[in-house]
Amino acid sequence: MELPWAQRLQRIPPYPFREIAEIKAKMLAEGNEPIDFGIGDPDMPTPDYVIEALYEGAKDPATHPYDESGFGTPEFKQAVSDFMSKRFGVQVSPDGEIQSTIGCKEALAHIIWAYIDPSDIVLVPDPAYSVYKVQTTWCGGAPFPMPLFAENGFLPDLDAIPAPVSKAAKMMFLNYPNNPTGAVAELDFFEEAVKFAQDNEILIVHDCAYSEVCYDGYETHSILEVDGAKDAAIEMHSFSKTFNMTGWRVAWACGGAPFIEALSKAKSNVDSGTFMAIQRAAVAALAGYDDFIVGLRAEYQKRRDALVDGLNSLGWNIEPPKAAFYVWAPIPNNYLTADEFAKDLLAECGVLVTSGAVYGSYGEGFVRFSLTIKGEDKLAQISEAIQRIGDNLELVW
Ligand SMILES: Cc1ncc(COP(=O)(O)O)c(C=O)c1O
Repeated sequence: MELPWAQRLQRIPPYPFREIAEIKAKMLAEGNEPIDFGIGDPDMPTPDYVIEALYEGAKDPATHPYDESGFGTPEFKQAVSDFMSKRFGVQVSPDGEIQSTIGCKEALAHIIWAYIDPSDIVLVPDPAYSVYKVQTTWCGGAPFPMPLFAENGFLPDLDAIPAPVSKAAKMMFLNYPNNPTGAVAELDFFEEAVKFAQDNEILIVHDCAYSEVCYDGYETHSILEVDGAKDAAIEMHSFSKTFNMTGWRVAWACGGAPFIEALSKAKSNVDSGTFMAIQRAAVAALAGYDDFIVGLRAEYQKRRDALVDGLNSLGWNIEPPKAAFYVWAPIPNNYLTADEFAKDLLAECGVLVTSGAVYGSYGEGFVRFSLTIKGEDKLAQISEAIQRIGDNLELVW
């Protein structure tokens, strides 16, 4: 039977990393293993202390039913509240201002379904993680791009949004530390964004999935540090990148109670919440944060330095990113498109990166290197990649 897909599913593109995974699988089947700077999925294991907590939790039958609280277990919400207070100085109440989620991705999708009707305008950064635009489109909403330019530190220029658009818009996505550019936002930008949202009655959804991956002693910010932000913002945090737990699907949303309530209503009609043993493991993860995070940051920082220094030795002029595990590299002048350059990197050097065009039209002209590198000796792989690029490609600057 050839049953046609719903038109709304036909309207959206395939998830970009599925295609990359397919190219890689094909190369592997042909016996060519690329040096893989492609998907941003941590290559290090979840720490043992978290796995132990899951094991203990899973053995307790009390964790086996649905989590009827709807918002997350009291222990989970308390641990999140304590973390937000200690890490950012932000007070979010376990009673109505926190929602456990099945990864940030799920929460990002459901907050759109909770608020966006057909034709509603959603301000979406470009380049960006694909989910903001795709889920908006899926909902029938109208994504309006906010270009992120290097000269503006990859922050959107809110003054450049036409007034009728900002007046009509209902939601705005922000994501700092940023995927794919590695940019960070300081508090003055968040203050400006919150004021803009309040003036125009827009809900800001701040995707903070990379908040804990930061370097050189730099500490990222929560948008909720801004006075009054809870009135205009919801923030998504994740265990995925902080604790190497991408497959576990556990995260949280926090912010103004009405927004959490809407998200919770959408979720409760779809997914019935996070396995309570996983919530227990997440509580343990946060309890061990101080000891664990130092090593994680140091490891990515070593890779970042090796990659940025290596690329710069070939003629690039890249500032080391302060956070996230991505290096956003402009393509050389002798290439017309990012796709073309990414293809040559793969075909001529066996180096897999993602084309910036995957992240939106303003990602054209860049490729993204992820510092999550599979296989053994990461620094040796980085140095091999640099050697191969230098030996096999002509780079004109
Ligand atoms: C910007 C951004 N947000 C969210 C996610 C997904 O996070 P999670 O694993 O918590 O769903 C990713 C994953 O790559 C991402 O890049």
